[in-house]
Amino acid sequence: MRFTYVTLFQNLIEGYFQDSILRRAQDKELFEVDYLNPREFSTNRHQKVDDTAVGGGAGMVMTPQPLFDTLRELKARGDVYIIFPTPVGKPFVQNDAKRLAKKKHIAFVSGRYEGIDERVIETFADELFSIGDYILTGGELPSLVMSDAILRNVEGVLGNSDSLAMESFETPLLEAPSFGKPPLYEGSSAPSEYLKGNHSRISALKSALSECKTKFFRPEQLLQHQKRTSYEK
Ligand code: ADE
Repeated sequence: MRFTYVTLFQNLIEGYFQDSILRRAQDKELFEVDYLNPREFSTNRHQKVDDTAVGGGAGMVMTPQPLFDTLRELKARGDVYIIFPTPVGKPFVQNDAKRLAKKKHIAFVSGRYEGIDERVIETFADELFSIGDYILTGGELPSLVMSDAILRNVEGVLGNSDSLAMESFETPLLEAPSFGKPPLYEGSSAPSEYLKGNHSRISALKSALSECKTKFFRPEQLLQHQKRTSYEK
């Protein structure tokens, strides 16, 4: 799998891939990363990539020419699925991460300033995604958030595929709480059932705790789960 980041700020992205699981996955050649900077495609003599908006309004907009030329060049190199992170996109969820993990090449186009000329989006976007109802200063963080969530679903990236199957959002309920060693820390103990080693009782307790946690943090998700399971009965 390949990720291309179309960004004015490559430095903001690079660091994330230099350590930990994603570094190892790159070393194992499970995915590759590259970058395109629209500034390098700007025909303006000062390499400008933004301007005031047509029709007025606050802030600067990324103009069409540098992005059109960047994305044409990208598409000329081969088949690529193009994603624009934007607060007006549809919410990015775990199912999107799983679905997109099957693509060979994804590009993320990061806007800065007040946004990207709509004609660029209309011409090149395969999908628009928001990572939450708040406004960030650019698309770099959302691109990284989505990349990380996608890569966890690429075969071989996580050492142990069990850890993926049991995660929150892989099942209808949130994941049960986990406890690291030692079992007793500063007077606070892991649940005693976890310590006794009876796996069916541990698993029953984990299901009950998952349900409690979902009820507290995501009540609407628990209701959906209960509706679904009562239909199945
Ligand atoms: N760009 C700025 N804010 C964003 C958000 N919440 N999601 C995706 N892209 C964005």
